[in-house]
Amino acid sequence: MSSKDAVLFFLKDKQGDFVSGEDISRSLSLSRTAVWKHIQSLKDDGYIIEGVPRQGYRLIKLPDKLLPSEIRYKLKTTLFDKKIYYFNEISSTNKIAKNEAAKGSPEGTLFVAEKQVKGKGRLGRKWVSPSGGIWFSMVLRPEISPIDASKITILAGIAVAKAIKGETGLKVTLKWPNDIFIDGKKVAGILSEMSAEADKVNFVVVGIGVNANLSLSVFSEELRDKVATLKELLGAEVDRVALFKAILKEFEKVYLSLNEDSFEKALSEWKNLCGMLGKRVKISTLTEEIEGEALDINEQGSLLLKLFSGEIRTIYSGDVVIKK
Ligand code: BTN
Repeated sequence: MSSKDAVLFFLKDKQGDFVSGEDISRSLSLSRTAVWKHIQSLKDDGYIIEGVPRQGYRLIKLPDKLLPSEIRYKLKTTLFDKKIYYFNEISSTNKIAKNEAAKGSPEGTLFVAEKQVKGKGRLGRKWVSPSGGIWFSMVLRPEISPIDASKITILAGIAVAKAIKGETGLKVTLKWPNDIFIDGKKVAGILSEMSAEADKVNFVVVGIGVNANLSLSVFSEELRDKVATLKELLGAEVDRVALFKAILKEFEKVYLSLNEDSFEKALSEWKNLCGMLGKRVKISTLTEEIEGEALDINEQGSLLLKLFSGEIRTIYSGDVVIKK
C-alpha cells in the first residue's frame, strides 16, 4: 500500500473524528512533513479534510469519484489487488485494457474511467458514457479454451445483476448474452473481447458499463425509452464506489471457482435471473435475422434457439429482441 493510501485509510478508519498529525505520523512511521504532503495531495484529489490546530485532521467528505484508493479501501478480493488504472476521461477502457493486456498486464488489472468519449458497445455500437456512470474493464487470463470464453460473460452478467440487486434492492433480469435489465429497460451492459490462439486464451478483457447516476436526458431520443439509469429508477444517486466494489466481489466469487460443476451452478443462477427463456425472440447475428423460441443456454454459454421448423440452432453471438 502506498503511504498516501495509508494516510487516507487511517483517516477513513476514524470515521470523521479528529486525529492528530503526530498520531498519524507515529502510527504509520512517516515524517510530519510526509503526512502533511499526503493530506494536501488528498485534498487535490477532491477529499475535504479539515485541519484544526491542536486537534489534527478529520475527513469530512469523499470525492464523488471512482478513485483507486476508494476502490481498494477494505476491498476483500484477491483477484483485484493488482494495479488499478484510473482516468478522468479516456476513449474506451476496453481499448486501453486490450493494449495493456497485450503488453502483459496481469490478471485482475483494472481500468476505470469517469467518462469515456468513445465508449464501445457490442456489435460495433457506441456506448454512451458521460460522468456519473460506472465504466471499467478488467483483464482476465482464464485457463479455458476459446470456445468456452462466453462463460466469462455469463459470470460477469450474474455478478453485475447480483451487485445491483444487493446495493439497490431493484429487481434485475438478464438477457443473453450480456444485457442487464430492470423493468424491461437496459441498465448495464458487458463487452467481452478476447485474444486467443487455436486452443488457448491469451486474455479476455471484460468491459462493464452501468448507467448509475445518469439522467435520461444524456441519451438520444431513440434510446430514451429503451434504457434506464439507477438514479432515475431510485430517485436518488447510488454509491458508485460501493456498487463497483460489490461487482468485483461478486465476480471474484464466481470466477475463482470456475470449473465444470461451479459453472453448472452459475448457469442455473443465470437462468433464474434470465427473463427470456421460453419466450419468442428475434436474433440478429452478423449474417442473418432469425426468430424462434429461446430454449436454453448450453454448457458453453451459447444460446439454443428452437426455430419454427423445429430445428435447434446454437447461437454463439447476436442481438436478442424479446417478442411480445
Ligand atoms: C453492450 O451492452 O453493448 C456492452 C456495453 C459495454 C460498455 C462498457 S463501459 C466500459 C467498457 N469500455 C467500453 O468501451 N465498453 C465497455
